[in-house]
Amino acid sequence: MDKKQLIAKLDREGILPADDLAQLLRGLDSEETELLSGCARRKAVSLYGKSVYIRGIVEFTNYCRNDCRYCGIRCSNTRADRYRLSKNEILSACEGGYRSGFRTFVLQGGEDMHYTDSDICEIVKAIKDRWPECAVTLSIGERSRSGYESYYAAGADRFLLRQETSSPSHYAYLHPETMSLANRKRCLDDLKDIGYQTGCGIMVGSPGQTIENIVQDLLYMKDFVPHMIGIGPFIPHKDTPFADEPAGDAGLCLRVLSITRLMLPKVLLPSTTALGTAVSDGRLQGILAGANVIMPNITPPRGRCRYILYDGQIGTEGDTQEDLKRIGDDLKSIGYFADMGRGDSIM
Ligand code: 5AD
Repeated sequence: MDKKQLIAKLDREGILPADDLAQLLRGLDSEETELLSGCARRKAVSLYGKSVYIRGIVEFTNYCRNDCRYCGIRCSNTRADRYRLSKNEILSACEGGYRSGFRTFVLQGGEDMHYTDSDICEIVKAIKDRWPECAVTLSIGERSRSGYESYYAAGADRFLLRQETSSPSHYAYLHPETMSLANRKRCLDDLKDIGYQTGCGIMVGSPGQTIENIVQDLLYMKDFVPHMIGIGPFIPHKDTPFADEPAGDAGLCLRVLSITRLMLPKVLLPSTTALGTAVSDGRLQGILAGANVIMPNITPPRGRCRYILYDGQIGTEGDTQEDLKRIGDDLKSIGYFADMGRGDSIM
């Protein structure tokens, strides 16, 4: 089968043998690229229409106990200027977000054990008490099952935890010895089992990643059936061991997004900040490749200028209001619109 036939088959059947997925990932000419992204875009539009869900991210701490080699807030980066937001600061960020129309708040941070399980519960409860109609998403890394259960009981709706890679050896290359893919997957299984709308995902083009690794990730995700999948290109950070590594290829990242949409049609798929950083209209290209979520930053300035995962990260100084306006205008220019609703999973 030629690549166009493979794309048509993927569109029809939602799966391809590993070797065929690898072929599509390795490279496509412009006609094949347009065919793939067109199929993915039509699939997304058939389920979600031309709406793109908007989520507000609050980056509430850049302290992290982990030492991931790719990440700017790794614990051994002494140049990272650390901060924590208080419960009140988090609530006022949500308040501002609510007034701007946000109905999903994503609380993201490093793995910062300063916030105990009961602290996280208190924060979640306070948000849900004040805005019961809003969804709360946690993105706080690996915790115990009982911790995950307590946040869910406190009202958290969703949880994001990328597997980063589905190859144990590649996982070990990216992460410190204290971490393992097995534990990562244990967390993801627990989260889904507890009842969270669960998100996993990967970086594209991280150092040491092969096309076969990405195929493994696609097959893992097809099998896991997450509600959400975060995919963005790797971008080096100057104060990490991967400072001199090349950034991931944005074209490859777009192909991974489109293939993901065709393999898991209903999944909530953000067009990520990293993609928007890698290319200037990256987030729009992501939407046109089948993504249907955008997550602007609603962190107060004190935090957002310090929560730097990679070089050139966009949205670290801008203002939420301007950002929203620009996203709305950009989406309009391609015939889409920003949907500020909760946008729960339809799985
Ligand atoms: N480049 C791109 N993405 C990164 N992340 C962390 N560091 C980088 C980087 N250097 C991503 C990880 C993490 C998410 C919050 O940010 O995939 O899960």
